[in-house]
Amino acid sequence: MTDHRIALIPGDGIGVDVVEAGWSVLQAAARRFGFGLQGDTFPWSCDHYLRHGAMMPADGIDRLRPYAAIYLGAVGWPAKVPDSVSLHGLLLPIRKSFDLYVNARPHRLLPGVQGPLRAEGFDILCIRENTEGEYSGAGGRVHVGTPDEVAVETSVFTRRGVERILRYAFAQARRRSGRLASVTKSNAQKHSMVFWDEVTEAVAADFPDVAVTRYHVDAIAARFVTDPASLDVVVASNLFGDILTDIGAAIQGGLGFAASANLNPAGGVPSMFEPVHGSAPDIAGTGRANPLAAIWSGALMLDHLGETEAAAATVAAMERVVARGAVATPDRGGTATTAAVAEAVAAEIAG
Ligand code: NAD
Ligand code: IPM
Ligand code: MN
Repeated sequence: MTDHRIALIPGDGIGVDVVEAGWSVLQAAARRFGFGLQGDTFPWSCDHYLRHGAMMPADGIDRLRPYAAIYLGAVGWPAKVPDSVSLHGLLLPIRKSFDLYVNARPHRLLPGVQGPLRAEGFDILCIRENTEGEYSGAGGRVHVGTPDEVAVETSVFTRRGVERILRYAFAQARRRSGRLASVTKSNAQKHSMVFWDEVTEAVAADFPDVAVTRYHVDAIAARFVTDPASLDVVVASNLFGDILTDIGAAIQGGLGFAASANLNPAGGVPSMFEPVHGSAPDIAGTGRANPLAAIWSGALMLDHLGETEAAAATVAAMERVVARGAVATPDRGGTATTAAVAEAVAAEIAG
């Protein structure tokens, strides 16, 4: 029997609730399909910071390295620890240290879900650059607190970084509809985004079967809302991808549905799977969190681990539970708890 060793990082707020729920569903899939999932839990979080002065231990990255994958809930609780400390102490270093340069985020309406738009047939795979760009961390502040204060946040786009995310996105487009939307703001940002457009053109030469359309981020944000079904694979920089994927989440029925895979396609390091949403302090600990985003992220993890049948069965189980509508958390208009939704999906997998 194959055994997969997974590092569990529940993190903060509803991260804890949805990882517990998602993990129970993944265990059901493992039982049904005959493989092992061994989880080790790392309680790294804002509470960990308050106790130990760090979001994770100094050797945290090395401790994660041997695992087949990382399953993460959410990081951040601004009332306890500033986001600039918590995210830069845990989530972002994991993405960066393991060079998880692809953040793949699927957005589609599950059968029976009524999103806020008329978006039948909408099925977007957003490929977000995940290690550089606007999240480079380069910059600083001078004359702090004075009227002359200046804050600089430098975006860094490297040829290697831009080319590899575009190649990944073109390859995904080739596997899907053959259509790729490349997102920039090259009308205003004349260095980085013009460079992105140039690299897009160069990579496109290797994918003559893929039709690439360039959009400015403001225009494609509008298109997400007015005509989401016209888009298929969308590739964007770190920040633009972050924003567009919350729009994608909203169209698919809310943040409670949106899943993500942080991947290093070269392998040799653990990739990380997490919902798009955050720690939702407003509902943390109430049992109101929708676990579907975490369950779906778990299915992406199973797929990545090569458990493709189990991954497909998990998504199908989720779809059947959602379509029946009976077991739904408050964000979907129901009264079911996080755990009850997970139990319903797990029972569906067990058959
Ligand atoms: P959020 O995603 O946590 O919450 C936004 C809104 O969506 C809230 O009203 C929340 O209740 C709702 N929501 C989110 N997920 C839900 C779910 N599964 N079920 C039902 N409702 C859900 O965004 P925020 O409030 O801006 O951020 C809170 C904290 O999380 C901050 O510290 C932020 O930096 C952090 N954050 C972390 C991640 C991550 O770890 N990947 C992602 C986003 C935000
Ligand atoms: C996400 C989150 C993170 C991001 C934050 C919490 C740093 O919003 O995963 O979408 O911007 O990448
Ligand atoms: Mn985000």
